[in-house]
Amino acid sequence: MYKNELKAIKNANLFRKREIYDDDLIDLASNDYLGFSQDEKLFKKAYKRVLNYPTHSPKASMLINGYHQIHKEFEESLSFANQFEQAIVVGSGFLANLALIDTLARRGDLLILDEYYHASGVFASKNSLAKVKFFKHNDPDDLRAILKNSSYKRAIVAVEGVYSMEADILNREIFAVVDEFGALLIVDEAHSSGVIGKNLLGVFDHYSITPTQNHIKMGTLGKAYGSYGAYILASNHVVEFLQNRAKSIIYATAPSVFDIALGLEAFKKIVKKRDILSKKIKNRIKLVNDILDISIDSLILKLEVASSNEALRIKELFLKKGFLIAAIRAPTVKKPILRIILRTNIKREILKKFLKEIKLEI
Ligand SMILES: Cc1ncc(COP(=O)(O)O)c(C=O)c1O
Repeated sequence: MYKNELKAIKNANLFRKREIYDDDLIDLASNDYLGFSQDEKLFKKAYKRVLNYPTHSPKASMLINGYHQIHKEFEESLSFANQFEQAIVVGSGFLANLALIDTLARRGDLLILDEYYHASGVFASKNSLAKVKFFKHNDPDDLRAILKNSSYKRAIVAVEGVYSMEADILNREIFAVVDEFGALLIVDEAHSSGVIGKNLLGVFDHYSITPTQNHIKMGTLGKAYGSYGAYILASNHVVEFLQNRAKSIIYATAPSVFDIALGLEAFKKIVKKRDILSKKIKNRIKLVNDILDISIDSLILKLEVASSNEALRIKELFLKKGFLIAAIRAPTVKKPILRIILRTNIKREILKKFLKEIKLEI
């Protein structure tokens, strides 16, 4: 039924596969920034935490009886540390973006997304009753011009803390523009939480911005936190509104209790080991600068390549050398890139060797 479509995808070198890679490969492809996905101690702590309760699965929506003490504890830890009034756990980052974009942008409102906002948010915006616009990537002037020249009931702006494919940090001026127009700001911190900021909490922390009633932060557990799931931090009334209207919160089983317990343990480790982890992150950023003369803001190294073929060729070449890197192609990105994650649990010497070798290919 879809033979022709598949043929076209294959002909364009854009066919995607699910693959299980050799465990011996040095993994520079996953978003496991802090190496927590291999931290047995965290896993055991989370397991023990769940065992303290008679129920280990969420069983139902959070609005029925799926809300667990572990969900509540995680939410309270997050809202306190991030200085938001309230937190709410969500099944995944995709579902969190669906909840935010679909619920908050209503008829008569204007929703403005960064042109490189994550696909989950863009997907949710397709069905929005609000007017939807995109502003030039990380460009406060373009955002200001749109806000100035449009009419709306409420304006909602959606941005990322660290852009997953562009690998740059949110421009600080965007906070000021949003304030100037009294807009609501959604910050997707999937790739910034655990990686940037004095306390490794993300972009608010990085810029020392105290959250206001107009700020919303979304974070995922599938990346630096080495688990699965997500959370939304916002003012009381926004969280209460989501809890009463967001379909991906109401009509979904509550997030996995074990995964949230694992997220909570990861969060506690980040708080406790902040200085050691920050040092390792800085070290890796410096290594890239020293060897490739490229300045990066987070643990994502983006290398542009000439074509999808070239991206695949380099990926295959490094697989043979024992390194797994990601070749990202359209439609995820406009121009093909190699996306390399400098995970903090990979020894510096190994990263050094890799960076010297990739230098010869780009
Ligand atoms: C920026 C961003 N937002 C949201 C998501 C979705 O999160 P999740 O994988 O938890 O569904 C991802 C990644 O998958 C992401 O990179």
